[in-house]
Amino acid sequence: MSKPFSDHDKRKQISVRGLAGVENVAELKVAFNRHLHFTLVKDRNVANKRDYYFALANTVRDHLVGRWIRTQQYYYEKDPKRVYYISLEFYMGRTLQNTMVNLALENACDEAIYQLGLDMEELEDMEEDAGLGNGGLGRLAACFLDSMASLGLAAYGYGIRYEFGIFNQKIVNGWQVEEADDWLRYGNPWEKARPEYMRAVKFYGRTEHTPDGVKWVDTQVVLALPYDTPIPGYRNNIVNTMRLWSAKAPCDFNLKDFNVGGYIQAVLDRNLCENISRVLYPNDNFFEGKELRLKQEYFVVAATLQDVVRRFKASKFGSRENNNVLDVFHIQVAIQLNDTHPAMAIPELMRVLVDEEKLGWDKAWDVCVRTCAYTNHTVLPEALERWPIDLFHHLLPRHLEIIFEINHRFMEYVASKFPGDHDRMRRMSLIEEGGCKKVNMAHLCIVGSHAVNGVARIHSEILIATLYVSYTNTNTLKSSYFNGTNATHTHYDNIGDGTTLALTHSLTHSLTHSLTIYPSVSLSGIKKEPNKHWTPRTIMVGGKVCLVPLSLHSHQRVVTGSTYRTIPLIHNSLLLCNALSPLLFSQAAPGYHTAKMIIRLITAIGEVVNHDPVVGDRLKVIFLENYRVTLAEKAIPSADLSEQISTAGTEASGTGNMKFMLNGALTIGTMDGANVEMAEEAGEENLFIFGMRVEDVDAMDAGKGYHASEYYNRIPELKQAMDQIAGGFFSPKQPDLFKELVDLLMHHDRFKVFADYEAYIKCQDKVNQLYKNPKEWTKMVIHNIAGCGKFSSDRTIAQYAREIWGMEPSLEKIPAPDEKLK
Ligand code: IMP
Repeated sequence: MSKPFSDHDKRKQISVRGLAGVENVAELKVAFNRHLHFTLVKDRNVANKRDYYFALANTVRDHLVGRWIRTQQYYYEKDPKRVYYISLEFYMGRTLQNTMVNLALENACDEAIYQLGLDMEELEDMEEDAGLGNGGLGRLAACFLDSMASLGLAAYGYGIRYEFGIFNQKIVNGWQVEEADDWLRYGNPWEKARPEYMRAVKFYGRTEHTPDGVKWVDTQVVLALPYDTPIPGYRNNIVNTMRLWSAKAPCDFNLKDFNVGGYIQAVLDRNLCENISRVLYPNDNFFEGKELRLKQEYFVVAATLQDVVRRFKASKFGSRENNNVLDVFHIQVAIQLNDTHPAMAIPELMRVLVDEEKLGWDKAWDVCVRTCAYTNHTVLPEALERWPIDLFHHLLPRHLEIIFEINHRFMEYVASKFPGDHDRMRRMSLIEEGGCKKVNMAHLCIVGSHAVNGVARIHSEILIATLYVSYTNTNTLKSSYFNGTNATHTHYDNIGDGTTLALTHSLTHSLTHSLTIYPSVSLSGIKKEPNKHWTPRTIMVGGKVCLVPLSLHSHQRVVTGSTYRTIPLIHNSLLLCNALSPLLFSQAAPGYHTAKMIIRLITAIGEVVNHDPVVGDRLKVIFLENYRVTLAEKAIPSADLSEQISTAGTEASGTGNMKFMLNGALTIGTMDGANVEMAEEAGEENLFIFGMRVEDVDAMDAGKGYHASEYYNRIPELKQAMDQIAGGFFSPKQPDLFKELVDLLMHHDRFKVFADYEAYIKCQDKVNQLYKNPKEWTKMVIHNIAGCGKFSSDRTIAQYAREIWGMEPSLEKIPAPDEKLK
């Protein structure tokens, strides 16, 4: 193996390859200094790293502007169909590096920064993560925006500009503590506020049914202020827009209070109305049912639809001579709903079409269904949105009427097909009866969309068999059902000797980087040193540097099935003293007690194991604090093994699983979510698959049922593990601390964790055996990397475009902008 290059060699190598371009470098340096002076108002005596980051970000941003304006003009000229991806979450992470790569500026910037005597990685580390998402659903939305731009689609992301994103997680005395994510504190160089395009969104009030139609009156108005972020495609000169709305109180907010001398109070109360965009709800796969959240959901769709209709009317197609132009809206507009969170787009579009644009109900409904499509992300009952009718009536009275009308017509139709089948009608209704009547948002989405899709094949099949079954069987819908297996943003990069590898753009930087710097180093060598500044070896534990021989990263989802599974699994690795150490990460929803207790158990186990002289350095249990996109970019390329161990049928897809796969980690997992397709692509023999399949779980439910005690009584080490946890072995100062967790596993575990226990242990033995044979291990890794092409979000988006939106993706470039201003 050749000696790794030094940083100096690396710079020389870049120059030799001539990638930087001397002219470019000189121009970039001038622009950098100009921004430091004019934008940051700093000189190099006082400038700090953050100033340099901002100067660089602004320099790079300059290269986006012409392309951005040009792309938007181009869309008006060519007038293609436009797609709107509406999501309550866009988990973007950092922007600088992605932009440099997509504009092919990375090497020139690297060289310019080097010549300026600065360190690129240090500057990149100054960027705050845009953490406007909880996990998979939000990161998927971000990857989709990248891919839509790279595939030349006229696409827009619409969401909320939360002032506070996903909380920062601190571990204090072993417990999770949340801190506010004040990501905008120093400003955001990538966004452009557009106060001139502010929109009014109405809440509360009442309806008046007049001969002229229905009027929604006595409402309270909140303004939606758009902030635009450029989304560059991969080297194709396309720059799309993500528009995020921020809530603003109107100037006359609480005006009547002014008149009674309450001026100060009225101004202070503006905050209440602006709270709508204050904070992201940190609930992954969990429905909390708070009024503020419903306000957020309506706020984003009401502002977005005004913009969509306005843009449609301004387009060539929409501005032609036609009195009822909105009746062809769906021909030029596709709206994709990322889960049910933006489901209010359906009744809101009906309100706009019927009440404002004066379309007849039937025509409006046809347009609405043909426009909207819905992606389902989970079948877990605790995640399904079901809003109480009373809350709706209070907050959005007109929309409740519209939902009732949709349901009334739909129920009449079902009744005509299945006379007297009241049970079927109850199952399919948008309104759930019972003590507290509720609107079932998933049903609303299914009925109001022309396409419904799941996010992995197994998930789509389960959806069809459960939620969707009544609809497909009755043929009551125009909608079709699709599967769009999730994926992650990838691009193709040339490395070293011209080999082309598909790499996760957002997550493989480190690996790509290593491959570029060390072209002759073997794959297994790279895995050992993927990051200059981050490896599991450098994690601090108890004030000391913890030497972890190699790491096993177990991604466990806190509010899904895999959560509870972690407990025996961690303990088991202690018993086996694996060659691989578990590195666990997760974030608990702040109000989710069980999830927080699980994190506490992990840290408690770490406290015991990491200080055990017998275990020594052979095993460390580490909880990775504050997992987020940037940390994932560093941690995932370091992993050798990825645990994807949800009970079959509970994880819809997962996307972490494919990011590990792409980055050369092997998977130990159940046949659940996208694992199934990963096994198909790489060959099942190249994954460590264990445990019950969905059919086994179903058979268990239909047969004798799941009884945790059977396994507890039969498997001595499982019993020992549970007894130790319950008895305070890991919490000697508070022996009862984890008793409730064990009670939960023993008596109320709907995820049936113990049922897979023995299979998991056996499979871990296999992992350990194979790990001792690096050649075989690396062979499996290569099969995985070679098989991961399917998990590029370019593939998923091409599929959505063709099958759902009726659009054709294109790899062609649009003309480069003329940067010379006339
Ligand atoms: P929007 O898509 O209507 O929000 O407009 C975004 C951008 O598209 C504008 O800032 C313009 O750069 C461009 N644009 C808007 N209208 C036209 C047009 O009629 N022709 C060409 N470009 C336009």
